[in-house]
Amino acid sequence: MMFVGRVQLQLGLILCVLIIAVWGSTPWYQARDASSAAPQQAPFNFRCETECSTTMDCATGLSCFQATADSNGCCLKALKPNETGCLIDDQCKRACESTHCDSTQSQPRCLCDTGRHFLFNKCWKKCPEFAHPEPVVDATGFSQCVLKVDSKTAMNYMRRFRRQMRSNFC
Ligand SMILES: *[C@@H]1O[C@H](CO)[C@@H](O)[C@H](O)[C@H]1NC(C)=O
Repeated sequence: MMFVGRVQLQLGLILCVLIIAVWGSTPWYQARDASSAAPQQAPFNFRCETECSTTMDCATGLSCFQATADSNGCCLKALKPNETGCLIDDQCKRACESTHCDSTQSQPRCLCDTGRHFLFNKCWKKCPEFAHPEPVVDATGFSQCVLKVDSKTAMNYMRRFRRQMRSNFC
């Protein structure tokens, strides 16, 4: 009887130690996600000159980026492929969805995404009829279509068939 009691006491102690160890390693309070616990942070990692809630708050030529229902956005310029001065991807994507801001360059620039090819300030899914079908890629990975006619002829073709070609570029 005494022996069983001692074993039970020891088991009880071990159980207590285990419970305390497990209990101690997990906080008793509801852990809060760091991002939701942090005070409302500015969405930008640069100093925004003009904050906005819509593009109407911005000067001519600028658009409102990254505004949400409960935080201000920033007035910035939407940039076409190969234009410089982007701070965030959205500036490029506003003008052409399949672009991103390449900030590894000394002048951050909107570049066509991989698999898109640059021509006439646009990013093409596939090089158009008036260019060679195979794009030329340089050492930096910049891929572009090369015209097979003079640029005036190409521009005229673009103007005439713009609607038909619309789904091939942005
Ligand atoms: C991209 O823009 C730069 C000027 O920022 C220009 O020198 C370069 O030729 C352009 N690239 C193409 C492929 O048009």
